[in-house]
Amino acid sequence: MTLCLAAGSCLTLQAQEIPLVNNIYGRPHTTTLNGQWNYIVDVQERGFYDYRMREDRNGFFRDAHQRSKIDLVEYNFDTSPQMAVPGDWNTQDSRLFFYEGTVWLRRTFDYQPKPGRRTVLYFGAVNYEAIVYVNGQKMGRHVGGFTPFNYDITSALKPGQNNVIVKVDNKRDRSQIPTNIYDWWNYGGITRDVLLTEVGETYIEDYSLQLDKQDWKHLTGWVKLNSRKAGERVTVSIPELKVNQQVMTDDEGRAELSIKAKPELWSPESPKLYDVTLTLGEESMQDRIGFRCIETKGKQIVLNGKPIFLRGVAIHEEAPFTQGRTRNLEQSRTLLGWAKELNCNYVRLAHYPHSELEVREAEKMGIMVWDEIPVYWTIDWTNEETYANAQRQLHDMIYRDKNRAAVVIWGIANETPHSEPRDKFLSSLARYAREMDSSRLISMAMEVTSAKNFHNKLSDNMHEYVDVVSFNQYVGWYRDVNVAAKMTWEVPYDKPVIISEFGGGALAGWHADKDTRFCEEFQENLYIENLKMLDKIDGLSGLSPWILMDFRSPARYLPHVQDFFNRKGLISPEGQKKLAFYVMQQYYREKMEQAKQSR
Ligand code: GCU
Repeated sequence: MTLCLAAGSCLTLQAQEIPLVNNIYGRPHTTTLNGQWNYIVDVQERGFYDYRMREDRNGFFRDAHQRSKIDLVEYNFDTSPQMAVPGDWNTQDSRLFFYEGTVWLRRTFDYQPKPGRRTVLYFGAVNYEAIVYVNGQKMGRHVGGFTPFNYDITSALKPGQNNVIVKVDNKRDRSQIPTNIYDWWNYGGITRDVLLTEVGETYIEDYSLQLDKQDWKHLTGWVKLNSRKAGERVTVSIPELKVNQQVMTDDEGRAELSIKAKPELWSPESPKLYDVTLTLGEESMQDRIGFRCIETKGKQIVLNGKPIFLRGVAIHEEAPFTQGRTRNLEQSRTLLGWAKELNCNYVRLAHYPHSELEVREAEKMGIMVWDEIPVYWTIDWTNEETYANAQRQLHDMIYRDKNRAAVVIWGIANETPHSEPRDKFLSSLARYAREMDSSRLISMAMEVTSAKNFHNKLSDNMHEYVDVVSFNQYVGWYRDVNVAAKMTWEVPYDKPVIISEFGGGALAGWHADKDTRFCEEFQENLYIENLKMLDKIDGLSGLSPWILMDFRSPARYLPHVQDFFNRKGLISPEGQKKLAFYVMQQYYREKMEQAKQSR
């Protein structure tokens, strides 16, 4: 199947892969395959290749069993260990803490296929490569560790017991997105929800509904069916706005939406969401959508016509109070709750798309979101496959989150080294994002890594492709310790500025003087000095200090201090708030007061 993307380029979807059946959480006939899955660690992938490195017709996807005492079968899912899905394998089996390779996972489930219905198998995310089989039939292969994908498995299902088997491989590679070096843990596995949903032969595949930027009493959008069926009636109702609009699809199976309505606008102070029901025939699905207008005016970010300062913090998907990748809404809620406690109205979800449920929760809590793809550090810029991968991940992030009012910025890169191939790669991504969605701001984390005579100047060709100029700087940690007060800053672009990262490390509970690395007082002083320095930047419109909570990284070795954790968190994984947390919290409290007085 070919998925033609907004920018005209087409993606070839493999085997049974189909365009994402969007907003799966709002669909009526959805069941979960989360739970305990049996798994087999397959270091040499012998469950996939035979001894001549050919794809083995009798691979583990067969889920073979010894039928008689003479049979030779050298694996058995039934008697293999189990792990929780969703969940990374690194923190569920101590033998796999550092493991990078293939693990096979299997789930059996009872199912009764219904005539005239399609069954779709959905994965919220699998890191990094997944090859999916249902009852021994290959459904397809997916790469990219942080975006959802799904398969129409109708033809592979049988009444009674079925199985889904996934070959997951988290090996890093230079040509991937992200590339083979990055500062977070390579958590492998099925790390988000696995769901089954039943739809009719013709169903609503995707839709968009937003406030018209030019007319706030008008909602615009479209609805798209899974097939090019004309004359299908779709009803969109928003009871609270007394909207009940019927549209007919064209011969592309698509219908434009143009709705007169005067919604209360979504904002962090008032995160208003409206119940929206979309109906095709007997099938209805639900969503909760907010309406707002985000734009820039000169050096200001403007939300619903008013300048707004993004009081933010960066967050990794690292689970609080336990180990591993976040795997449920409760953990996301804890992280977002800490951001609220920090007086944030904004989070930078680093460095990859976080779970849909986390984005939806931020929206409910009145927290704006920077949604980002992992085009991180030194990507293989001249590799066409690498670009296609990046574009696919960008497409899938925008496709999934385009109806989320909280998402105000698409982040397309982080700390990428300057070169002509890099500018070509990133400017293409920026254009692509804008073609897919002109309603949001585009940015990327640039960087300023040095000063001349204490003068710091941002210089990046990509400034012309972004709406907000964001950059990371580490005065006081990686450079120029204790001279923040002497620093001046120059951002020679007439656009709003976000400091997308600053900060330093501290081991929670270690106290010493402000010149002792890794104690809380050092980090506290770094924040005090940095905030005084950054506050002077002309056009400063937001901050996302690095980072809310300590997170695992293979590059942080220092025994008894890091122990494979990056300690730049304002909070420890055990929930201990460090002194710097209160510095940041107070700075944002003052920003809130200033905003109130300027109204
Ligand atoms: C970089 C990078 C982060 C990293 C941080 C650090 O700015 O963007 O991903 O964790 O620095 O060194 O702690």
